Amino acid sequence: MKRGPIHICIIYLLLCLRTHCYSPVVLMHGIFDGPDTMNTLETMIKDAHPGTEVYKVDMFNNDVSLFKMWDQVYWIRKHLKEIMSSSNSTNFIGFSQGGMIGRALIQTTNNHNIDTFISLSAPLNGEFGFPIIYQKYWPNATLEWLTDLFYSRAGQDISVGGYWHDPIKEDRYREKCNFLAPLTYPTNPDWKNNFLKLKKLVMIGGPNDEVIKPWQSSQFGFFNNKEKVLPMEQMDFYKNDTFGLRTLFEQNKTVNVTVPNIFHTYWHEDVDVIRKYIIPYLN
Ligand SMILES: *[C@@H]1O[C@H](CO)[C@@H](O)[C@H](O)[C@H]1NC(C)=O
Ligand SMILES: *[C@@H]1O[C@H](CO)[C@@H](O)[C@H](O)[C@H]1NC(C)=O
Ligand SMILES: *[C@@H]1O[C@H](CO)[C@@H](O)[C@H](O)[C@H]1NC(C)=O
Ligand SMILES: *[C@@H]1O[C@H](CO)[C@@H](O)[C@H](O)[C@H]1NC(C)=O
Ligand SMILES: *[C@@H]1O[C@H](CO)[C@@H](O)[C@H](O)[C@H]1NC(C)=O
Repeated sequence: MKRGPIHICIIYLLLCLRTHCYSPVVLMHGIFDGPDTMNTLETMIKDAHPGTEVYKVDMFNNDVSLFKMWDQVYWIRKHLKEIMSSSNSTNFIGFSQGGMIGRALIQTTNNHNIDTFISLSAPLNGEFGFPIIYQKYWPNATLEWLTDLFYSRAGQDISVGGYWHDPIKEDRYREKCNFLAPLTYPTNPDWKNNFLKLKKLVMIGGPNDEVIKPWQSSQFGFFNNKEKVLPMEQMDFYKNDTFGLRTLFEQNKTVNVTVPNIFHTYWHEDVDVIRKYIIPYLN
């Protein structure tokens, strides 16, 4: 017998009742992007897991994505409040800057229900490079000039300033960066406890990204003060477990994914990445 859509629907409903339904998935777009850039992900998730509710965040799109990170986190938290409490768990997938918003939401929202966080080429440990896509805004910039800009008060009001991480001026980063530095070295113990609620942290990145610099930042690695890249395990915040990363790693809750030959703006459209490294981790 040929199965029509109604049959499939009924079979799915029965399966869903008998086994388990999938938790909602939040998709957060990157800088200079909007919700439509997440359409491939949305379609593939719904095909693989019929019935999943997928929310593409439709805020801080395009040029507005340059707004201060904390403001974005504040409004997006309000917007997601119901989703983050209507079920027992939520999956959060953040692409690039969207991953930074995810990290901040998770750490700074008490009682959040995000248990799976998939960071898709996000500068989790900061950015120290000058991707071509910024050149329209700062055509003559050098890294030094950008450090002076981003570590000024006005620069901290630009999203990128919030995760600009100058490894040669680590002291200035710790002092002036008011977004990533306090997330990494929190003074509020809740920010660690909230992070520890994650059951799975998937960190996806790769050597041909060209925008995340160093690309290992997508897996919490970074430059030392001689601009040599060190892995996560050698970071002081990891060793001291300042925000819970080491605990998650030791509990086997982190997944490290490295995929070559993907340029930054293609991660969220790469069907292999989505099929192999995103969908299997959704619950
Ligand atoms: C949440 O979990 C509890 C206990 O595991 C279960 O009884 C309840 O049905 C779940 N609620 C939802 C919305 O999944
Ligand atoms: C950038 O440099 C060029 C050549 O040195 C100069 O003509 C131009 O005005 C500069 N642009 C800005 C925005 O400073
Ligand atoms: C993740 O993979 C990269 C590339 O293989 C490696 O350099 C890095 O040490 C790994 N990180 C963790 C936390 O396993
Ligand atoms: C890590 O812990 C050591 C020993 O307690 C301390 O000396 C060091 O300052 C800490 N580093 C950070 C970044 O918290
Ligand atoms: C760690 O987690 C992976 C899946 O993320 C699983 O395949 C593996 O068996 C786990 N290892 C241990 C020691 O629990």
